[in-house]
Amino acid sequence: MEAFCFFLHLLFLGFVCSEVSFTYEGFHDANLSLYGAAYMRSDGILVITKDSTKLLGHALYPSPLRFKESKLNNSSSIVVTFSTNFVFSMKPQYPELGGHGLAFVLFSTKEPKGCLPSQYLGLPNDTSNAQYSTRVLAIEFDTVQNFELQDINDNHVGIDISSLTSNISEPAAFYLDNSTNNNKSISLKSGGPFQVWIDYDSLEMVINVTIAPLALQRPYRPLISFPIDLSPVLDEQMYVGFSASTGLLAEAHNLLGWSFRIGGRAQDLDISELPSLVKPVKVVHKKGFALGITLASVTLVFLFISGAIHVKRRIENMEALEDWEVEYGARRFKYSDLVAATGGFGERNLIGTGGFGKVYKGIVPSTGLEVAIKRIAQDSRQGMKEFVAEITSMGRLRHRNLVQLHGWCRRQDDLLLVYDYVPHGSLDDVLFDNPQQKKKKLTWEQRYKILIGVAQALLYLHEECEQLVLHRDVKPSNVLIDADLNAKLGDFGLARINQHGIHPQTTHVVGTLGYLAPELTRTGKATTSTDVYSYGALMLEVASGRRPIEPQRSAHELVLVDWVRELHSRGEIVQAIDPTMDEYNPYEAELVLGLGLLCSHSRPDYRPSMRRAVQVLLGDASLPQLPPDFYLEATGVATEYADFYADDSDPSCGKASSSMATNFSSFDKKVSSTQATRATP
Ligand SMILES: *[C@@H]1O[C@H](CO)[C@@H](O)[C@H](O)[C@H]1NC(C)=O
Ligand SMILES: *[C@@H]1O[C@H](CO)[C@@H](O)[C@H](O)[C@H]1NC(C)=O
Ligand SMILES: *[C@@H]1O[C@H](CO)[C@@H](O)[C@H](O)[C@H]1NC(C)=O
Ligand SMILES: *[C@@H]1O[C@H](CO)[C@@H](O)[C@H](O)[C@H]1NC(C)=O
Ligand SMILES: *[C@@H]1O[C@H](CO)[C@@H](O)[C@H](O)[C@H]1NC(C)=O
Ligand SMILES: *[C@@H]1O[C@H](CO)[C@@H](O)[C@H](O)[C@H]1NC(C)=O
Ligand SMILES: *[C@@H]1O[C@H](CO)[C@@H](O)[C@H](O)[C@H]1NC(C)=O
Ligand SMILES: *[C@@H]1O[C@H](CO)[C@@H](O)[C@H](O)[C@H]1NC(C)=O
Repeated sequence: MEAFCFFLHLLFLGFVCSEVSFTYEGFHDANLSLYGAAYMRSDGILVITKDSTKLLGHALYPSPLRFKESKLNNSSSIVVTFSTNFVFSMKPQYPELGGHGLAFVLFSTKEPKGCLPSQYLGLPNDTSNAQYSTRVLAIEFDTVQNFELQDINDNHVGIDISSLTSNISEPAAFYLDNSTNNNKSISLKSGGPFQVWIDYDSLEMVINVTIAPLALQRPYRPLISFPIDLSPVLDEQMYVGFSASTGLLAEAHNLLGWSFRIGGRAQDLDISELPSLVKPVKVVHKKGFALGITLASVTLVFLFISGAIHVKRRIENMEALEDWEVEYGARRFKYSDLVAATGGFGERNLIGTGGFGKVYKGIVPSTGLEVAIKRIAQDSRQGMKEFVAEITSMGRLRHRNLVQLHGWCRRQDDLLLVYDYVPHGSLDDVLFDNPQQKKKKLTWEQRYKILIGVAQALLYLHEECEQLVLHRDVKPSNVLIDADLNAKLGDFGLARINQHGIHPQTTHVVGTLGYLAPELTRTGKATTSTDVYSYGALMLEVASGRRPIEPQRSAHELVLVDWVRELHSRGEIVQAIDPTMDEYNPYEAELVLGLGLLCSHSRPDYRPSMRRAVQVLLGDASLPQLPPDFYLEATGVATEYADFYADDSDPSCGKASSSMATNFSSFDKKVSSTQATRATP
């Protein structure tokens, strides 16, 4: 806890040697200089940043320390041996995404100029700039991959000298023994806590960095052992401490203990003395406890009785109830309720017609819930059980950018899906001029927000929900827009249900021309990467206000993605921006078009993951470099056309672009029939 500091001047040995040492186990009594977002919590935890966005914090030892010693008979000086160990915890707001990171730093000035948040970790970006001439040595613990800074991944440890591009970095891990091939990786953003040891030896001239979970002993082998003479890097005197930052992604960066020493190995931290991140559990008062038990049992009895009544009612109201319906019973709506809600599925309540059937607006009388009811005409009961299993698993998905499925109902051949009602219609309606609706065109800001929303919904479906869900039909008419112009992705998973063989005649269900990845039409196998392709097409569409394929255009403008790529290759990408927008953010517009091109690249391995796409859109990662053969590779859409029309035996399918328009639906049909054959051999 106590910091102490002593300077020895051992002139008689031929050295000017300074020795400093301090140890904080918890920071209750620590006298540190705090800048920006950094503060000391009353429980002794040093917070460098809390988990809010766009913060930057520094915590430094208050006085500068002497890092160089000079030999008396030699005018140049060398960097002394120093050593530190500390315990940190990083906890991101979105556990999967991370929120930049933390660095142990040596600064030549106490308040360095030009420090930046986000990927710059609170460090000065450009140290070569004379105006900001600060010498910096940083050991970074970084949880976001930034391509501009050549980060290796989103979970790495690196040594940065005067620049945020690391001189060396390794994925976060520790070695289990002395051999080089037995390491165990750790996830920095898991919340830890982790202990770090950093050592530099003046004779060896090597920086060693070691990291391990707090509960473990110090590993024998360091993760990084980087040979470097620090004497040209450091000044005579340096400030030592920590820096951290958040961007649009937020992450809490906390320190629990810190020990530092110049002239030898830092004192070990006593783990039992460190403050705990876990809040102490409140002891329940005896009386309250007993009352709680009574209440709980009364509630249980009540639930049991009402459950029994419910079951009894259900049996009485049976509408051809089957085993599997009982199994998934909780989400079933009464048919009579839905008939009442929609005025008997009257034309007045009809709000849309799609590939799956008609959509009605309604208010469920028993609950007052405003819903959209999708009515799917059934002519086959085959695969019904899978259908319901699929629906119940979709009902468990919850995300603010997904249309919530409340439940379903079946009556003979009628299948009804009950969704949250989303008022503004679809992205298709708001994006394209609709003379009947007289709606104002979307601004750039609104478009950008909608794109982020759709990307976050797809990220959720691909990576964050219990099991991977492929959307398979990402397109503007499946993106609904609520009153605050938030995007809500709908119809997820429905294409898959169709593959179970419920309704193989339906067209437009296994994807829509212009949004179909080229490999999907060849292999019929949907993947996360085929969803990314469709999302890329949607991005280009939203930015340009043009549909992916506009048959009335001239040949080189026919396919949107090919046209945008051509403009990009000529450096004229701004020409692709929707001309009806009065103003737009040119940086974001280029980002959206560039990312859209990458996502809808014909080669699946060039497409980023949805996670990366979200990070790029949020400004937490830069746009990946376009691959060298980017312009050479055709996107494949045009080729697919050619293949299709060449293969097709139907002589009515001409090759002229004017006849393509009329043949789009037959293209869809062809694709979906191959799918159906695959699913039911
Ligand atoms: C904290 O450290 C600074 C710089 O060494 C010193 O001026 C100040 O008096 C110290 N404060 C306390 C409370 O020890
Ligand atoms: C000067 O330093 C060198 C080592 O750098 C040492 O070997 C030598 O004895 C020193 N000379 C004097 C006069 O101290
Ligand atoms: C002084 O020390 C530096 C670094 O140790 C060494 O490279 C240099 O040769 C020395 N110069 C003299 C005159 O001893
Ligand atoms: C950081 O520095 C690099 C290289 O000097 C520069 O390209 C980049 O624009 C800088 N970033 C910011 C936010 O200043
Ligand atoms: C470390 O990186 C900086 C900036 O990239 C570079 O100037 C320096 O030469 C590198 N140092 C070493 C030892 O690689
Ligand atoms: C690693 O090497 C050190 C020193 O050589 C030795 O003391 C230690 O026991 C070794 N550890 C293991 C796990 O082999
Ligand atoms: C740890 O092991 C993995 C797989 O064995 C390897 O890919 C990785 O490079 C190793 N990490 C380090 C720091 O050696
Ligand atoms: C750094 O690690 C290497 C390899 O384990 C070791 O030989 C060396 O003594 C270490 N140096 C310091 C300063 O800890």
